[in-house]
Amino acid sequence: MTSPARRSGPSRPYERPRRLRTTPAVRRLVAETRVHPADLVLPVFVRDDLDAPRPVSSMPGVVQHTPDSLLRAAEEAVGAGVGGIMVFGVPAEEVKDATGSCGTDPDGVLNRALRSLRSALGDRTVLMSDLCLDEFTDHGHCGVLDARGRVDNDATLERYADMAVQQARAGAHVVAPSGMMDGQVRVVREALDAAGHEDVAVLAYTAKYASAAYGPFREAVGSSLRGDRATYQQDPPNRTESLRELRLDLAEGADMVMVKPALPYLDVLSDVAATADVPVAAYQVSGEYAMIEAAAARGWIDRDRMVLETLTSIRRAGASLVLTYHAVDAARLLQGADHGRDD
Ligand code: PBG
Repeated sequence: MTSPARRSGPSRPYERPRRLRTTPAVRRLVAETRVHPADLVLPVFVRDDLDAPRPVSSMPGVVQHTPDSLLRAAEEAVGAGVGGIMVFGVPAEEVKDATGSCGTDPDGVLNRALRSLRSALGDRTVLMSDLCLDEFTDHGHCGVLDARGRVDNDATLERYADMAVQQARAGAHVVAPSGMMDGQVRVVREALDAAGHEDVAVLAYTAKYASAAYGPFREAVGSSLRGDRATYQQDPPNRTESLRELRLDLAEGADMVMVKPALPYLDVLSDVAATADVPVAAYQVSGEYAMIEAAAARGWIDRDRMVLETLTSIRRAGASLVLTYHAVDAARLLQGADHGRDD
């Protein structure tokens, strides 16, 4: 005999989404989004004037590498299954100048690091290089300045063209112009082709916002910037503007496009992913990393879950790849993970 309470009736739901949440196995089966180590790219910092790796205090667990420790870290990342490495060079203070000449010097810190990474790793990973002047200029801006101290778009493009060729020669598989100059993708593509580097791909920083979340990065690269980048990076209130940047970057020949930062801009990421017919990357930036680490260090959040949840959200919003300082840890968590946790 069925008790009245167990009889189905109008007050009882017919559809029961909870059926697909009952066990870890069923949750794993129906998961709409997966994060795989191969989707992740590890950003790394290298200096050539250190005896030992130097911790970045606002990014616990992240260091400025020596050339040797960089090679070991890259091997470790590749071993963990991480899909690529994005390299940032940190020059000594005394080699910075107004035009960032260290960035185009074949013996500059970044180009040297690219050369040794490529010779050690060959094609076992995707070697990416940040293509921007801000680490190399004494004023810290992403371009060269005009007589009035403003960032000069077209003069900067000439520097980027030169940088692109040097980075390709040094062994980058992918160059990533991140300075938000108008026309940067076109000049970089043309310069690469003219120098015979047709196979080197361009990952465009397409939607890059002037964000407070870059704070720890500025420590990581020893930035000399005073002031801000508001005349070239995008204004946080703007959403449609990113579609304009996307249209331009695709027309100029971008092979992949990027949205940055990631978590505060998931709406932008979703728009870009809905429109782009090339792979879309998202950059979970230094401040996003720092927020997770700071809260976790106080015991306020579960770090590992937060790392995987944020990466999942970024993938769910439409990113096919994610640049994250958590790449190696996340790759290990993913490999060890039985995705259905029972909590
Ligand atoms: C510019 C560049 C920046 C970042 C990546 N490329 C700094 C900036 O725009 O000020 C920030 C990355 C991060 O915060 O993790 N070359």
